[in-house]
Amino acid sequence: MSERVPTGIPELDKLIEGGFPRHAMILLAGGPGAGKTILSAKFLHEGALKYGEPGVYVCFAETKRMFIRDMKNFGMDFEALALENRVSILDLSIGAEIEVQSALNQIMEAVTSIRARRLVIDSITAMSVGLKSELEKRRMIHLLYRIIQNSGCTTIMITDMPYGTNRIGGGIEEFIADGIMMMQTSYNSEGVLRRHLRILKMRGTNHGQKTYEYTIGDNGVEINVS
Ligand SMILES: Nc1ncnc2c1ncn2[C@@H]1O[C@H](COP(=O)(O)OP(=O)(O)OP(=O)(O)O)[C@@H](O)[C@H]1O
Ligand SMILES: [Mg+2]
Repeated sequence: MSERVPTGIPELDKLIEGGFPRHAMILLAGGPGAGKTILSAKFLHEGALKYGEPGVYVCFAETKRMFIRDMKNFGMDFEALALENRVSILDLSIGAEIEVQSALNQIMEAVTSIRARRLVIDSITAMSVGLKSELEKRRMIHLLYRIIQNSGCTTIMITDMPYGTNRIGGGIEEFIADGIMMMQTSYNSEGVLRRHLRILKMRGTNHGQKTYEYTIGDNGVEINVS
C-alpha cells in the first residue's frame, strides 16, 4: 500500500486506509457553507503541528484576514504558524488569463520557500472566475495540475458545487484528480440542516462507500463513521 498522509481528521483517515495517498491531488467538492475551508485548514494545521509538514493555503475565495479570523474559532492559530514559516497563506485574486500565470508562479514560490509538503487551493471555482471561455479554464486546470505535480505536495483542491446540484466541476478535474470527496448539506423532514460526506473515488484505496453524516463543532469537522 502506498504511503499515507493523515488528513488531520482521524475518522476520515479510517475511511481511506490511514490518509490521502502521498502526492495525491484530492478534489474536495461541496456546496456553500459545507465546511470545505474548515476541513482543508485542519489538514494544513495538523500537518504542520503534528507531522512537521509545512503547508501552503491559497485563498482565492476569501481574504487571508478572514481566513485567519474564522479558523481561530476552531482553535487553529494560523498567524502563529505563519510567523514560524510552518504555513504560508497566499491571498490571491484573479481577473484575467495572464494573471493565472502569475498566481501559479506565486504558489510555486511559496511552496519552495517553506519546503511545503501540503497544499490547499481554495477554490478552483474562484480561481477561474475571471476566465471567459471553457478553453481558458481547462488550460488553467492543466497548468495548475502540472504545478501541483512538480510541487511534491499532497494537495486539496476545493471546487464549489451549487446548492442542490450533483455536478462537480468543469468535466476534466474529476478525471485528473486522484481522489474526490463531496461535502453536501440538505434539510431533513423537520427542516433541520444535515451534513453528509461521500468519498467518490480515492485511487489505490479501499475507501468507505457510505454516506457519512458529519457536524461542525469546536474542533472543526467531526464525521460520524458508524
Ligand atoms: N463556531 C461554529 N460552530 C459550528 N459551526 C460553525 C461555526 N462557525 C461556522 N460554522 C459552520 O461552518 C460553515 C462554514 O464552513 P466553511 O467556511 O468551511 O464552509 P465552506 O464549504 O468553505 O463554504 P464556502 O462555500 O462559503 O466557502 C458555516 O456556514 C456554519 O454552518
Ligand atoms: Mg470556503
